[in-house]
Amino acid sequence: MSPAAPHDYASLDAEGMDTATAYRLLCGVVAPRPVAWITTVDDHGLVNAAPFSSYNYVAHSPPMVAVNIGRRGPGLKDTARNIERSGEFVVNVATLDTLEPMHQSSAEYPPERSETEALSLALLPGRWVGVPRIAITPVQMECRLHAQLSLGPLNTLYIGRVLGFHLGRSVYDGRNVDTVKLQPVARLGGPYYAALGQIFERPVLQAPPGGLAPAAAAGPGPARADARREDPPR
Ligand SMILES: Cc1cc2nc3c(=O)[nH]c(=O)nc-3n(C[C@H](O)[C@H](O)[C@H](O)COP(=O)(O)O)c2cc1C
Repeated sequence: MSPAAPHDYASLDAEGMDTATAYRLLCGVVAPRPVAWITTVDDHGLVNAAPFSSYNYVAHSPPMVAVNIGRRGPGLKDTARNIERSGEFVVNVATLDTLEPMHQSSAEYPPERSETEALSLALLPGRWVGVPRIAITPVQMECRLHAQLSLGPLNTLYIGRVLGFHLGRSVYDGRNVDTVKLQPVARLGGPYYAALGQIFERPVLQAPPGGLAPAAAAGPGPARADARREDPPR
């Protein structure tokens, strides 16, 4: 692979870039992104569900995830309003099986209309927070708002401390989450999604947080349904 020259790039100054262009470029470049299908509850007990891909885990000790929620016009999206009100939310992991209802729940339902009712989504009660989980997803994380950070006039970052994990028996063997079985769906630039593609393996070269030295490091666990870390090195 030969190195590129400066004229091989379009170099765009992001200072003063219009919102639509910056958003389009970020969504194309920062991809694939995991999708948090977030449930929240409003002050009447109405359950809200919507997907968010400006999302990732941001800390492990204690475990925390973060999501950026943009403004809708002059106001907050229902998810942001509910998180700010109650300090609670649940991240349901969006999967291939749940792609359609997850996507449908991104439509602009009025605040008094519950997406989980409109889409007939079965719910399970939260154990650590008063927010239900979406029962067709194999993994959910119950979160309490740890901090929120304004990122300019149009975006707020919500950082949630994960109070508990619900790990479906179909994807969790008591130690690892099998990512292949999980079938997480990823967001690319809209309107595209992606599934897991080819999976590569390399030895882990550093001790994982809280784990063993590199030589014995177990890593985050097998990504492939048929791979087991206990296998002898080949
Ligand atoms: C796959 C996907 C990812 C999305 N990611 C985000 C995001 O990261 N931040 C955001 O503000 N909106 C995002 N949206 C748009 C929201 O889901 C949409 O605005 C939704 O209507 C918000 O619902 P609510 O008002 O019930 O919270 C995304 C939509 C889709 C389909």
